[in-house]
Amino acid sequence: MPDAPIKTLGLNHFFGSGDARKQAMFDINMDITRGSLTILMGPSGSGKTTLLTLIGCLRDVQDGSVQVLGQEVRGASEAMLVSLRRRLGFIFQAHNLHESLTATQNVLMGLQVHGGGDPVRQRTAAHHILDLLGLADRRDYLPGNLSGGQKQRVAVARALVSNPEIILADEPTAALDKESGHNVVKMLKTLGDKRGTTTVMVTHDPRILEMADRIITLEDGRIVSDTHP
Ligand SMILES: Nc1ncnc2c1ncn2[C@@H]1O[C@H](COP(=O)(O)OP(=O)(O)O)[C@@H](O)[C@H]1O
Ligand SMILES: [Mg+2]
Repeated sequence: MPDAPIKTLGLNHFFGSGDARKQAMFDINMDITRGSLTILMGPSGSGKTTLLTLIGCLRDVQDGSVQVLGQEVRGASEAMLVSLRRRLGFIFQAHNLHESLTATQNVLMGLQVHGGGDPVRQRTAAHHILDLLGLADRRDYLPGNLSGGQKQRVAVARALVSNPEIILADEPTAALDKESGHNVVKMLKTLGDKRGTTTVMVTHDPRILEMADRIITLEDGRIVSDTHP
């Protein structure tokens, strides 16, 4: 297990081509410690989502280096990228729950990408994580019958149920009230302490900043501040 499960070196990124080609990331260098909670901040359009998707192997690395769990992502084979993505947990703004599946079934989707496994144990794991997120009495609800905050917590449960080594979260608490937002981040912090899970999270929520081990601020695709509060 590498001590820095996420590393970038001289990372640049461009969108568009020809005259429309525009640089969105400029010389990003970072080294994220195992088990830590890092918060990415910065104004809209500063590159937070782009950086998260590059780390998440969801976008081609064009220039510079991204290393995830000890593997170089740039130029890696599709098979390697798939196996890396399976070790990550994603919580994105649009929570993308399946409307025809219950909360429990949606959480089970977080295990199905891994294939195999004992269905009874998987169900128990899904229930356990839903309970931890305060959704014990909502297990069998369809997303249409859940509030925005409850749906967001189902998406968090789906990301966590497979015990990912890295969690990448894009404003996971935006739809949550103060208490559930705090609970979600507390849970991520506990996972960091207990299992060494590394979290990188985009948030603007000032109440969460104090829980971070590290705060990286982007502006116009550049790191403009990097602090360990
Ligand atoms: N798919 C895309 N095509 C073209 N430009 C993009 C695309 N995605 C992001 N950008 C541009 O890259 C910059 C960073 O965007 P983004 O990473 O979404 O910022 P943030 O998440 O901080 O709001 C912005 O200027 C945005 O317009
Ligand atoms: Mg964004």
